[in-house]
Amino acid sequence: LVLILDFGSQFGQLIARRVRELNVFCMIVRHDISADRVRELNPKGIILSGGPSSVYEPNAPKCDPRIFDLDIPVLGICYGMQLVCQALGGTVGGADAREYGRATLSVSDANSLFRGYPVESTVWMSHGDQVRSLSGDFVPLAATATCPLAAVKHKQRPVFGLQFHPEVAHTPHGKQILANFLRDVCGCQGLWKMQTFVEQTVAGVREKVGDKRVICGLSGGVDSSVCAALLVKAIGQQVACIYVDNGLMREGETEIVRHTFRDWFKADLHVVDAKEQFLSALEGVTEPQEKRKIIGRVFIDVFKHEAKSIPGAKFLAQGTLYPDVIESGGSADGPAATIKLHHNVGGLPKELGFDLIEPLRDLFKDEVRKLGLELGLPEDVIWRHPFPGPGLAVRCLGDVTEEKLSTLRKADTIFLKELKDAGWYRKTSQAFAVLLPVQSVGVMGDGRTYEKAIALRAVQTDDFMTADWSRLPDDLLAKVATEIINRVKGINRVVYDISSKPPATIEWE
Ligand code: XMP
Repeated sequence: LVLILDFGSQFGQLIARRVRELNVFCMIVRHDISADRVRELNPKGIILSGGPSSVYEPNAPKCDPRIFDLDIPVLGICYGMQLVCQALGGTVGGADAREYGRATLSVSDANSLFRGYPVESTVWMSHGDQVRSLSGDFVPLAATATCPLAAVKHKQRPVFGLQFHPEVAHTPHGKQILANFLRDVCGCQGLWKMQTFVEQTVAGVREKVGDKRVICGLSGGVDSSVCAALLVKAIGQQVACIYVDNGLMREGETEIVRHTFRDWFKADLHVVDAKEQFLSALEGVTEPQEKRKIIGRVFIDVFKHEAKSIPGAKFLAQGTLYPDVIESGGSADGPAATIKLHHNVGGLPKELGFDLIEPLRDLFKDEVRKLGLELGLPEDVIWRHPFPGPGLAVRCLGDVTEEKLSTLRKADTIFLKELKDAGWYRKTSQAFAVLLPVQSVGVMGDGRTYEKAIALRAVQTDDFMTADWSRLPDDLLAKVATEIINRVKGINRVVYDISSKPPATIEWE
């Protein structure tokens, strides 16, 4: 076990993630954890995270200084380094030049932390303060142009400090430093596996829930499926999974959910058939934001109604991931413009008087996928592209009718099948068909046609905030177009969307 003391860093979870990637189990704990509690937990190492404060401010968060006397290896990062240096006799002050972004690090001591590390390399800095002078007990290990003490080591104790952030991707070799700290200094063997996460989370959920019931919203997407599977493993029939069939799902989606959760996991699955409700509320509505609002409102009504029918429910489980936590952290009331109203069920637990359970809160997407595989979810579910809450309604431009949805579903199914057959599904981040509200002239056989058009959209992205269109092979596009025009009644034209985000968005509405 390695403890990460959190001083309010934006990167706390990223440190945890890197440690997990090195197969070492870690826990993020409050910065003011007592030295006695640390001794009880008996970690092999302690990492002090960065943080937004200045160590010399009166209310700056500190850790229990007795922690440094436990003879447990300590690595202080950024604020953590300033704190440890200050606690052990150094001084910290505002830097002459604040350093944000890339810097070149020169290593002067290639042992311990920097074993196998390039002498000169890029590191990521983000600080206004820095350690000004060391007590005689520390020695410098590396420097940048404006930060002479960019990495330090205590002479007697296993205590290290880094002014830069080894955990971020912009420090290309940062993981090597963490690996050296964990393996060489702390003596961690790297035996931790996702299976251990499952065992620990299962135990935690059982303890929290006791004999109460939990409601888990299931959308069919990766996150909610993994969350539900984990809960079923932990508490079996005590969890009730609610899946709202809004009539806006893709072909076969409801059946996959039913098969996976009811037949395979033997979960208590409530499939609520609310197609009528959604479609009648959407009748004649063409404005995208209006469509989104209606879908969000009906969803909440339907979900609440079903949730109330489950006796003894005290908790609501959500498949919130770590990136969702960061994103919603800053922007909720911020000045950012609302581009699209995203499905928001954030207020639900409170309204229903439920407590929240978020077992995936510490994980990143790829870790959730690994976890899903570990839990035995089918690959189809694990690798499924994201699908928006409002479903096909935002891909059926203009008003939404059963007939249009059926046309769109057929075209979408053909596109995804061809992508999968050609090995391109996993190479794209998201791909789908859009039914356009225009008609154009064509010729089929000897006759004139005047029918609708389908747009195909496929994008590559890491974070869905920006995206580029996928360079699908011509042959593949040609095959998809031919299949759609030949097999989907009412379509005589297929176009491929070659706009990036920004300025376009991924979805069309
Ligand atoms: P845009 O279209 O904004 O989409 O570029 C970015 C990503 O978000 C998905 N999306 C949604 N997801 N509820 C969701 O859960 C929504 O209301 C919603 N709208 C868009 C979209 O599919 C893409 O992955």
